[in-house]
Amino acid sequence: MAPVLIWIPLVGLLTGLGSIKAQQTTLHPLVGRIFVHTLNHETFQHLPEHVAVPPTVPITYHAHLQGHPDLPRWLRYTQRSPHHPGFLYGTPTPEDRGRQIIEVIAYNRDSFNTTQQRLVLFTGNPEGPLLPYQAEFLVCSHDVEEVLPSAPASRFLTALRGLWEPGELQLLNITSALDRGGRVPLPIEGRKEGVYIKVGSASPFSTCLKMVASPDSHARCVQGQPPLLSCYDTLAPHFRVDWCNVSLVDKSVPEPADELPTPGDGILEHDPFFCPPTEAAARDFLTDALVTLLVPLLLALLLALLLAYIMCCRREGRLKRDLATSDIQMVHHCTIRGNTQELRHMAASRQVPRPLSTLPMFNVRTGERLPPQVDGAQVPLILDQH
Ligand SMILES: *[C@@H]1O[C@H](CO)[C@@H](O)[C@H](O)[C@H]1NC(C)=O
Ligand SMILES: *[C@@H]1O[C@H](CO)[C@@H](O)[C@H](O)[C@H]1NC(C)=O
Repeated sequence: MAPVLIWIPLVGLLTGLGSIKAQQTTLHPLVGRIFVHTLNHETFQHLPEHVAVPPTVPITYHAHLQGHPDLPRWLRYTQRSPHHPGFLYGTPTPEDRGRQIIEVIAYNRDSFNTTQQRLVLFTGNPEGPLLPYQAEFLVCSHDVEEVLPSAPASRFLTALRGLWEPGELQLLNITSALDRGGRVPLPIEGRKEGVYIKVGSASPFSTCLKMVASPDSHARCVQGQPPLLSCYDTLAPHFRVDWCNVSLVDKSVPEPADELPTPGDGILEHDPFFCPPTEAAARDFLTDALVTLLVPLLLALLLALLLAYIMCCRREGRLKRDLATSDIQMVHHCTIRGNTQELRHMAASRQVPRPLSTLPMFNVRTGERLPPQVDGAQVPLILDQH
């Protein structure tokens, strides 16, 4: 699959002198297999113009799906620094089959020239046998960019072959540990971010791999003990694999597909133990309602009548009181009352002098003593006695 290069001159973007050229490359990713495309001085030949750029020139890239601001979901982009190559990598899923156009713009960080490249991806199904046996390894000694080029990747597969049953191994997925919740390591020599590498094969796992991924081995890892690696670690010097983080997936036994619920006729099957509730008889609530309403109402009425009788009919009026009083007492009372009233009347119509008891006995200024006036007509009456 030699890349087809079509040169399409485009309007210059930054320098205005035709420095942007669209270059088209056709690639063929496979569903379920890792796809890696390297962006470097070779793939971006003639940057910016028909002059090869020395490899020391820093270049950065920006890639996006045509007509969209970002890459498709399955594709990732990474570049360690402008002096390193960039990588587009990822594993297409069956939904990604078909044609996708990725636009990549390369920026020359020295001259600020840009070049555009178009990657036409025709994603198809892989040929060959299915790879039902899949294993994922966490390689702690590498960053993701260090295993994406084909040389270290094939070296990893070759080394892994010593641990697997003989058979072809294929790279299925490569993910930076940072994308799976890993931490950026301290800037200490030899510390790497780590990378997850998923490998598939048509041949079954070796007992060694099965043992290292067994629950017993995981239990030992949790307790801080070394895992159960029974065979020689053929990956050892180049690739430091975290044997506590090996996961195996066996897809050779097809999982029972979830049965689709079939809509029934909506009637439950006959169940001998099911006894439906008997039909409730119609009930008349009129008497209940009447009793509930009328009894308190009657009681209230009765009490009201009783109260009215006591208040109105059993009232002791004045006439009755007078009749109950003896005649002599009545006369006595009436006499006192009549006299009092008469006196009051007289007092109101006459100029009565101040009562003697309120008069001074002598004049303060002259010292003159006044003899007490004994004038029967002027002696005040004690009027209000009650
Ligand atoms: C590859 O790995 C990434 C990260 O774990 C995951 O999101 C993606 O679904 C994987 N791709 C496939 C096809 O399994
Ligand atoms: C390894 O896997 C375990 C769970 O299986 C997880 O808790 C642990 O963080 C992983 N270690 C690393 C270095 O990713």
